[in-house]
Amino acid sequence: MKKVGFLTSGGDCQSLNATMRGVAKTLYQKYDDVEIYGILEGYKGLIYGNYRKMKPGDFSGILTEGGTIIGTSRQPFKKMREPDENGLDKVKAMKENYKKWGLDCLVILGGNGTHKTANLLSEEGCNVVTLPKTIDNDIWGTDITFGFQSAVNIATNAIDCIHTTAASHGRVFIVEVMGHKVGWLTLHAGIAGGADIILLPEIPYDINSVVKALDKRNKQGKRFSILAVAEGAISKEDAKLSKKELKAKKQENLYPSISYKVGQEIQERTGQEVRITVPGHTQRGGEPCPYDRVISSRLGSAAARLIIEGKYGYMVGIKNNEIIPVPLSEVAGKLKTVNPDSSIIREAKGLGISFGD
Ligand code: F6P
Repeated sequence: MKKVGFLTSGGDCQSLNATMRGVAKTLYQKYDDVEIYGILEGYKGLIYGNYRKMKPGDFSGILTEGGTIIGTSRQPFKKMREPDENGLDKVKAMKENYKKWGLDCLVILGGNGTHKTANLLSEEGCNVVTLPKTIDNDIWGTDITFGFQSAVNIATNAIDCIHTTAASHGRVFIVEVMGHKVGWLTLHAGIAGGADIILLPEIPYDINSVVKALDKRNKQGKRFSILAVAEGAISKEDAKLSKKELKAKKQENLYPSISYKVGQEIQERTGQEVRITVPGHTQRGGEPCPYDRVISSRLGSAAARLIIEGKYGYMVGIKNNEIIPVPLSEVAGKLKTVNPDSSIIREAKGLGISFGD
């Protein structure tokens, strides 16, 4: 009998269930006696021994269902080696449960932090296959992550809705898009939604350049402007600070988020009325878009194929539309960021989009 543990970890996204369904369906096609353990709430379930034995029916009807049927939680990698409040050695506990349940392997769906812990478990002797989940699209080793395109659709829709009201009132609108460390989501939604200014963590902005871009639009007779601002957008000034200095500065900050700071500066310098919209977690909610359903099904099926072949220690990624296994040791600890010199940035600038640089 094959025993496989499924685990979803970190922030959720729309296509987790579709991906698990892809793995499960392929395994059920191959084996009559496969048993799937749904490990509850991510690594927490593996540490504290919480799981649910899944049945084939559990994976029916979930292709279009957002969230995760087995729950998730954030368990920071940097705390994995620290004992919990009762002195429990978390890594040891995870290995013991893996052994106690008699698992042949773990299928782990998650983002960057999740991959670091997955790699640790693999190094500690567990058989692991992972799948790249995140609306941020920042996992190294794959062109795209599942969840990203669904989130792009939602963030774009938010910008689309803002367009009509911005045009009616002649205001400056800021739409704050998720992404603390990377700006893929903001970049794609910004271009798709026709934003005039896009601010990303990877391209520190100068507020003078932002104001200049707004002035240019005003001179062209445009009555409104839209900014797509990533949660992690940063000014040139702040980008020069050390991590410690930046943390201290953020603590003193009176603004709920970066958009409010940018908004106030624009209002003060231009006298234009500014409004801020934060779609927040709506970007991770609802059903997966068809594109995500397709890649999730493909990735899930390919992950099951690795299990069938007994190939462990890999993340299943996508390169040039082909599914490929990428060694976990290469993925863990790296981030796929937007390159400021890449062609997508050049093309966006060619369209007249300002990045405030
Ligand atoms: O990593 C996904 C993500 O949605 C980021 O874009 C965002 O910065 C973060 O998670 C929010 O985390 P939480 O849901 O824990 O507030």
